[in-house]
Amino acid sequence: MSAAPVAGSTALALTVSPMRPRHLPEVLAIEAQVYPRPWSSRLFEEELDRSGRLYLVARLGATVVGYAGVLMIADDGHIATIAVDPAWQRHGIARCLLVELVRQARLLGAEQLTLEVRVSNRGAQELYRSLGFAPGGARKAYYSDNGEDALVMWAHGIATDEYDTRLERLQSRSRWPIVRQGFTDAPAGRPHPAVPPRAGTASGQEAS
Ligand SMILES: CC(C)(COP(=O)(O)OP(=O)(O)OC[C@H]1O[C@@H](n2cnc3c(N)ncnc32)[C@H](O)[C@@H]1OP(=O)(O)O)[C@@H](O)C(=O)NCCC(=O)NCCS
Repeated sequence: MSAAPVAGSTALALTVSPMRPRHLPEVLAIEAQVYPRPWSSRLFEEELDRSGRLYLVARLGATVVGYAGVLMIADDGHIATIAVDPAWQRHGIARCLLVELVRQARLLGAEQLTLEVRVSNRGAQELYRSLGFAPGGARKAYYSDNGEDALVMWAHGIATDEYDTRLERLQSRSRWPIVRQGFTDAPAGRPHPAVPPRAGTASGQEAS
């Protein structure tokens, strides 16, 4: 069994790969720590089976330290979730995950990205701003656990050269060497446009 990575270590590479059912025990352990209404194993399994979804995990050694997912509706990529193990937060892992997720969403045909974030979650909002997201509206009482409003954020023009430059700049500043595993160059065909959005409170689950 591999030893757990040591927080603060910089010698390791961050491996980013598609989420598989075998990652779910570690994903669920993180999920339970960071979300008031964690997604169930079944919900993740269903998501992994659906078309027009892509979920990624970030690993240090063999240990899952974070994950993120996007779902496609026509040419909108909706960031469904992102989380990092509390022991590894503020080490640039979410930013690396998002850079890779955006790249993969573009391969799936995304022209813009959107997400919901709690109005109180300033740290996550700061992270999204660094990826070019800007506020584009609000959803009242979106989160069912405490009735908190969601800020809706959008990143437009993600398929442009200008946005490429942003991604490259972010990646060049990353403290982690990134190893990509298990990606095909051309992901399966574009999703069915009727894939429904998965609202945070509609299913009683936390969304991003
Ligand atoms: C939000 C979350 C995914 C960020 O993960 P992370 O790996 O710690 O984020 P990063 O280290 O890549 O941070 C990138 C930038 O985002 C901002 N940021 C992230 N967390 C922050 C915090 N707690 N406070 C202030 N800024 C923060 C900073 O600008 C940071 O850059 P810096 O460290 O150079 O200052 C993580 O805190 C988490 O899992 N939270 C619980 C789940 C959650 O809220 N998900 C988002 C739902 S919308």
